[in-house]
Amino acid sequence: MSRTGGHFVSRLVALVGLALSLAGPCAGAQALSVDHKSDPWWKHALIYEIYPRSFQDSNGDGVGDLNGITQRLDYLQTLGVDAIWLSPIYPSPQVDFGYDISNYEAIDPQYGTMADFDRLLAEARKRKIRIIMDMVMNHTSDKHPWFIESKSSKTNPKRGWYVWRDGKGPGVPPNNWESGFGHSAWKFDPKTSQWYYHRFYPEQPDLNWRNPEVEHAMFGAIRFWLNKGVAGFRLDAIPALFEDEQLRGEKVLPGANSYGDPNLDDSLTNNLPEVHQVMRSLRKLTNSYPGGRVVIGETYLPDIGELRKWYGADHDELQLPMDMQVGFLNKMDASLFRSLIDQAEHDIDGGQPLFVFDNHDNIRSWNRYGDGVHNLDIARVIATLLLATRSTAMMYYGEELGMTTTPPTRVEDVKDPIGKIGWPAEKGRDGERTPMQWDGAPNAGFTTASATPWLPVPSSYKTVNVALESREDDSLLSWYQRLIQLRRENPALHDGSLTMLNVDGNNVLSWLRKTADGQSVLVACNFTAHQQTVAFDLSSQGVSGRQIKTLLQTPGSPEPDSLASVKLPPYGVYIGQIQ
Ligand code: GLC
Repeated sequence: MSRTGGHFVSRLVALVGLALSLAGPCAGAQALSVDHKSDPWWKHALIYEIYPRSFQDSNGDGVGDLNGITQRLDYLQTLGVDAIWLSPIYPSPQVDFGYDISNYEAIDPQYGTMADFDRLLAEARKRKIRIIMDMVMNHTSDKHPWFIESKSSKTNPKRGWYVWRDGKGPGVPPNNWESGFGHSAWKFDPKTSQWYYHRFYPEQPDLNWRNPEVEHAMFGAIRFWLNKGVAGFRLDAIPALFEDEQLRGEKVLPGANSYGDPNLDDSLTNNLPEVHQVMRSLRKLTNSYPGGRVVIGETYLPDIGELRKWYGADHDELQLPMDMQVGFLNKMDASLFRSLIDQAEHDIDGGQPLFVFDNHDNIRSWNRYGDGVHNLDIARVIATLLLATRSTAMMYYGEELGMTTTPPTRVEDVKDPIGKIGWPAEKGRDGERTPMQWDGAPNAGFTTASATPWLPVPSSYKTVNVALESREDDSLLSWYQRLIQLRRENPALHDGSLTMLNVDGNNVLSWLRKTADGQSVLVACNFTAHQQTVAFDLSSQGVSGRQIKTLLQTPGSPEPDSLASVKLPPYGVYIGQIQ
C-alpha cells in the first residue's frame, strides 16, 4: 500500500482512535434458487457490490446507470453472482455520491427511472440474481425535505429529527466531536443560531434516532423497497446511529489523523448499545416479509467480540454483519489469517461470517496485499480466502479482474470531497471507483468512445478487462469463475465444516472442509515468495484418505502424488478432494 491514510479503515481508526485488534497466535416477490439443504439463500451467497456510477453507462453521459447494469446481468450470471448490492441510487445532490439521500423512495434521474429499476429487478430475477439496497439510516442529505423543515425554525415539528444544540459560546461548537471526513462534526446554522451534528460531511446531517418519529419514517422507506421485492439491505455506517445523549466531549488521544485533527476516542459517538434495539425492530420488520430478506451491516468494529453482538443475543439482529478483520488485515501473514478465520468460525455463536476484501471506500486488495511482483498470485490467494472458506462472500466490481486503485495525481481532478479536504495525505476514494474495465475499446466499454467518463479509465484496461480475461485460461477472472463454480458444486466447499490447519506455521495457510458424510477438501495457500512443500497428515481430523485429486490449483503448479507432498509455487494455491 503506497498512500498513507488512504485506507477507509485507517481513516476511521485515525479518527476514532480504534486499534484493529489482530492479537492471537495462531421474495416474497423474489422466490429464487432454493438451496438443497433449505439453508437460507444468503448463507452460501456471493454478493457483488456495484457502484452504479462506475459499472456501465447506457446513455453516453459518462455516468453509469441502471439500464447499464441490466445490460450486464448476463456477465454477472455467468460469473456466479447470487445477489447484487447496489450502492445508493436514490435522488441525491451527490456530495457523497449517493450517500447523501434527499428522497428514500425514488430513483436519481441520472441513474434512470423507477421503471428502469423495476426492469432491473425483473431481469435479475430471471437470472436468479437478487437485489440488495444500500440503506443510509444514520443521516440524510441537507436537501432532504425533513432537514429543510427541521432547519426552518426551532419550533418546527421536525426540529427534533436531527441533532441540534446550542454552542458553548459564540463560534464555539457544543463539543469536540469530529467528522469522519475531517474537522468538527458540528455546523452552525445562522438562522436559528444553533449547531447540527454531522458524522460525515456537513451536507449529511445526522438523524436523531432517540426520536421515535425517525424510526417510523425510515422504516416506512424500508417497507417501500421490501414491497417492491428487494432481497434486503446493506446498512450504511450503522454503528454511528447513536451518540451520547449528554454530548460529553470525547477523550483526546495522542497524535493526529490525516486531516490534521487530534485523534479521539470514539466511545461516545460510535457503537453505542442503543443501536441494538433498532436492529431488533428492523429485523422484526424484515422477518415479516417472505422470501428470506437479509440485513447486512457495514460494521467496522475493533474485534470479534464486538462483531458478535451485532448478530443479536437471540440471533435477532443482523444476519450478516461484515467481518472487517479478515479482509482488512492488509498483510500476507498466515498466522494472523489463521487466527482471524478461526475466530469467525468459533466466536460468533454459530452466526454466519461475511468476509469482504474490497469495497468503494478502500484501496483495492490488489494494491493492499500485492508485493509488486506476485500480485496476480496473491490475488488468487485472496479469492481463495473469500470463496473457499465457509463465509458468505462479498466482492466489489472489478475485483475479479485485478483492477487496481488508480488515485488522481492532481488535486484539481479529485471528485471525492475527502480528497479535497485531506490532499495530499488523503487523496480520497476516486482511485477505487474508476470505471469497470469491460474490453479493450476506448473507455474500456464502460461508455461510448466519445463520452467523458466521470472518472478517468485507468490505462491498465488494455490488459485488464473482461473480454480478454474471459479468453485467458490463467487469468484472475478464470480463477474466480472456477472457484465460484466449485463453491457451488462441490459439497464440502459448498457447506462443509471448516477447520483451520497449522501444518507449516507462517509459510502456508491451509484448512479442511468436510461434509457430515465424510467428503473432505483440502485448501492450501502459500504465503511466501518461495516454493513450499507441505506434508499433510489429517488422521487427527478424522480423515483417513491419503490420496488427493486436484480440483483447482495455481496455473503451472506440479500435480501432487499424495497428501505427503503438496508442492506450492510462490503464493500458489492448491485445492484438492481427499480420497
Ligand atoms: C459509508 C459508505 C461511504 C460513505 C459513508 C457516509 O461508510 O460506505 O461511502 O461515504 O458511509 O455515508
